[in-house]
Amino acid sequence: MMSIICNMSLAILIVIAFSCYNSILAALAPSKQSEASALLYSGWWSPSVTDNTTLPHCAWPGVLCDTSGSVNGIRLAYGYQIGGNFSNMNFSLLSTLILLNLSYNGLAGKIPLQICNLSRLTYLDLSSNSLTGELPPCVQNLTRLQILNIGGNYISGSIPPEIGNLRSLTNLRLDGNQLGGSIPSEIGNLRSLTDLYLGGNRLGGSIPPEIGNLRSLTDLRLDGNQLDGSIPPEIGNLTSLSDLYLGGNQLGGSIPSEIGNLTSLTHLYLQENKLGGSIPPEIGNLTCLTDLNLQGNRLGGFIPSEIWNLASLTYLILQGNQLYGSIPPKIGNLRSLTYLDLQGNQLNGSIPLEIGNLMSLTKLDLQENQLDGSIPPEIVNLRNLSYLNLRGNQLNGSIPPEIGNLTSLTYLLLQENEFDGCIPSQIGNLESLVNLNLRENRIDCAIPSKMGDLRDLQQLDLSSNNLVGEIPVELGNLSSLYYLDLHNNSLSGSIPNNLRAVFPYTAFLGNKDLNQFHETQAPKRRSSIIHHMTVFIPLAVISCIVVGSCFLFRRATKTEQPETTEKNGNFLSIWNYDGRIAYEDIIDATEDFDLKYCIGTGGYGSVYRARLPNGKVVALKKLHRLEAEDPSFDKSFRNEVKHLTEIRHRSIIKLHGFCLHRRCMFLVYEYMENGSLFCALRDDIEAVELDWSKRVNLVQDTAHALSYMHHDCVQPIVHRDISSNNILLNSKMQAFVSDFGTARLLGHDSSSNFIANIAGTYGYIAPELAYTLVVNEKCDVYSFGVVAMETMMGEHPGDIISILLTSSGEDIMLHKILDRRLPFPRENSVARSIVLIVSLALACLSANPKSRPTMKQVSEAFLARKSPLAKPFHEISLAQLRYVNRSRLEGESTEASSGQSEE
Ligand SMILES: *[C@@H]1O[C@H](CO)[C@@H](O)[C@H](O)[C@H]1NC(C)=O
Ligand SMILES: *[C@@H]1O[C@H](CO)[C@@H](O)[C@H](O)[C@H]1NC(C)=O
Ligand SMILES: *[C@@H]1O[C@H](CO)[C@@H](O)[C@H](O)[C@H]1NC(C)=O
Ligand SMILES: *[C@@H]1O[C@H](CO)[C@@H](O)[C@H](O)[C@H]1NC(C)=O
Ligand SMILES: *[C@@H]1O[C@H](CO)[C@@H](O)[C@H](O)[C@H]1NC(C)=O
Ligand SMILES: *[C@@H]1O[C@H](CO)[C@@H](O)[C@H](O)[C@H]1NC(C)=O
Ligand SMILES: *[C@@H]1O[C@H](CO)[C@@H](O)[C@H](O)[C@H]1NC(C)=O
Ligand SMILES: *[C@@H]1O[C@H](CO)[C@@H](O)[C@H](O)[C@H]1NC(C)=O
Repeated sequence: MMSIICNMSLAILIVIAFSCYNSILAALAPSKQSEASALLYSGWWSPSVTDNTTLPHCAWPGVLCDTSGSVNGIRLAYGYQIGGNFSNMNFSLLSTLILLNLSYNGLAGKIPLQICNLSRLTYLDLSSNSLTGELPPCVQNLTRLQILNIGGNYISGSIPPEIGNLRSLTNLRLDGNQLGGSIPSEIGNLRSLTDLYLGGNRLGGSIPPEIGNLRSLTDLRLDGNQLDGSIPPEIGNLTSLSDLYLGGNQLGGSIPSEIGNLTSLTHLYLQENKLGGSIPPEIGNLTCLTDLNLQGNRLGGFIPSEIWNLASLTYLILQGNQLYGSIPPKIGNLRSLTYLDLQGNQLNGSIPLEIGNLMSLTKLDLQENQLDGSIPPEIVNLRNLSYLNLRGNQLNGSIPPEIGNLTSLTYLLLQENEFDGCIPSQIGNLESLVNLNLRENRIDCAIPSKMGDLRDLQQLDLSSNNLVGEIPVELGNLSSLYYLDLHNNSLSGSIPNNLRAVFPYTAFLGNKDLNQFHETQAPKRRSSIIHHMTVFIPLAVISCIVVGSCFLFRRATKTEQPETTEKNGNFLSIWNYDGRIAYEDIIDATEDFDLKYCIGTGGYGSVYRARLPNGKVVALKKLHRLEAEDPSFDKSFRNEVKHLTEIRHRSIIKLHGFCLHRRCMFLVYEYMENGSLFCALRDDIEAVELDWSKRVNLVQDTAHALSYMHHDCVQPIVHRDISSNNILLNSKMQAFVSDFGTARLLGHDSSSNFIANIAGTYGYIAPELAYTLVVNEKCDVYSFGVVAMETMMGEHPGDIISILLTSSGEDIMLHKILDRRLPFPRENSVARSIVLIVSLALACLSANPKSRPTMKQVSEAFLARKSPLAKPFHEISLAQLRYVNRSRLEGESTEASSGQSEE
């Protein structure tokens, strides 16, 4: 009913607009008159635009005219939602069109045959719509076409052989559709092609050898199809090729040695196929190669020694094959390497000490091989190493103390080896460490108390060793820890109270001299909450216990008589809430931060609820003592607070004021009645109250808030810790982004990426942060993707992310993953919103930060008119949504790279 009324009023407005415009039309030459009426009747421009009596249509947004006033281009891309539909545009009246770009407009229906009459067209971009039907063979008439991009639609059928007539084509992109059949050999006629993207379809058969004719090709992407047969040797003729993506198919045979002729190649991705034989030594001729990914094939034999000459390599991924032999000292030549993944092969021998030459390495994964010997102390040089995984080998000796110099490490996974001796106390220097796993080794010393210094540690598994002595009480200082496993050791003494309070008793089982006794068995419900609430509750408990530091603060500040202005450089407070919150009011309202007012904890501090004398309830966040004592933190914190006080966005929590002091810091926020999204989703009653439309709004509000932070603030802000813990809900279940404890400002200059310690919550951290510490807003985009999926699913998406990130992963139906506590979304508008949210979320979860959308694009997509579903809701699968987006986002670069042809 609603939509009928809307459509009617639109029609009425168009009629009104038309009558206003009539007088202008009358004054135009006949050909221009028909052009103008075609545009007007299309309904693509809103009446407010067309109802302008002073300018002709050439001034309408997206309309390009030549000097004579003829329409030669229409560019309504990216979120400009065409008001009418495709078939309302009479293309036969626009024969002068050279450029037509309608990407990302929610267009549905078939590609109109009329388009084939636009014989002057050089640029046609219909990507990222919801177009169905087949690619009409009549496109062969568009012989001047240079750019043809129909990626990211639901086009089915097969690629018409007639496409071979488009000899001017430089860019052909049909990726992310449902095209079947095989790649027509006629594609070999397109000799001007530089970019050929057919990935993410259902193309079968083999790669036609004629592809070897495309000598101008620089970028060839056929990944994510069902191509079989072997890679034709003719591919070796594509000597201009710099990017070759054939991953995620069923290609067999062996890698042709002719690949060694592609000396311009920088990216070679052949992962997840059925390639056998051994890696051809000719690969060593590809001296420009930066990325080599052969993961998940059936490659056997030795890794050819020529590979170790490829000095430009930054990514080398050979995981999941059957490669054997040892890792040679020559590996030390690959000095540009940042990412080395040889896991899941049959490599033996020891880790060569030359590994210490790979000073740029951020990720080293050698797990699940048959390596023996000890870890060479030269590892000390890998200053940038953030991820080290040696799990499941036969490594022995003791863990070298030099590990303690790798201060960038976030993951240290040495489990299932034969390490003995002690855990070096230097491990306590790894201040960025998030996950430490030494399970199933033969370590037979005490746990060093220095491990209590690992303040970012979230997971610690020392189980199944032979650890002796008492559990150091310092482990209770690990305020980020949410997973602890010490079972099956020889620990003695008693479990420190602050650990016992937080972790289930199973974490300590199998230590026969350890006092397991619990005074009172915790009620069942509660312990299961603790188990599930991973980060949130344990932290609350710990930090509320450690709140003792506040007494110190009280004493220190009492003598200073804090004012509402800066005083002796040591104390700063800005009270901009009613201008009248006094420091004393806060202390009184919380009885000096008494535990009974503590309501929870975020990453950087405990939160208190305080009712001020004027009746207003506020939330106080008191930062952990450690942060408060770090001078560099103090400095950046002051900066951030200053900017946060200037933020005015509906969906960002309001900062009323703050108090900064060397010993203790707190912030005063507006109070959120319904706590965090995390808790709401885990409570069956609140989860149901949070119905589909509230969830949709919540995700959209969060997107708008992040877009504002990234793109509309004077200085862009990255939050760095977006998680469901940090999305708070008010009494109406509206979402507010909170917890800017780890947020960072980005400079305006091009070097806006910066290196930082890993922040954020496990499970929400962008994967690239495992191997690079460059932080930019794309990290928030990833975390947003997790939160959006979590909101739709009712639980953390967990494995779904990794299943989707491997192109060979199984497909999952959308409706199967939705939160089952809510009814099936029958209402059309809700269903469309869910589809949009999930498809954008999947794009946000791209492993490659560059493929993620910006928050601005996400936010605009939410604001735009929702396109009708191309198929019934229950038939939509995640893989479809994923490919729609991939092209949607990559579409950007097509236009950028072909800018010249538009002029
Ligand atoms: C109509 O044209 C005037 C004059 O150029 C311009 O200022 C105004 O923004 C236009 N109105 C619309 C709705 O485009
Ligand atoms: C488009 O315009 C031509 C020429 O005026 C006319 O013959 C034709 O019927 C129109 N087509 C549609 C679908 O309106
Ligand atoms: C587009 O409009 C035409 C005529 O106005 C109508 O027949 C067709 O169903 C519409 N298509 C869609 C997808 O809305
Ligand atoms: C394409 O061109 C051929 C001949 O050049 C013509 O017969 C045919 O009608 C055209 N098709 C369309 C859809 O314009
Ligand atoms: C590829 O190049 C070789 C010579 O290098 C030539 O013999 C062969 O015909 C070419 N193949 C194609 C398909 O162009
Ligand atoms: C590859 O290069 C070699 C020598 O550089 C040449 O003999 C051979 O024909 C080339 N193969 C192809 C397929 O171009
Ligand atoms: C390519 O590599 C092979 C084997 O490593 C070698 O014999 C050949 O000379 C190389 N070809 C060129 C053109 O460098
Ligand atoms: C490793 O760190 C220690 C201090 O923990 C330092 O004394 C030593 O010089 C460092 N080694 C290297 C090679 O930097």
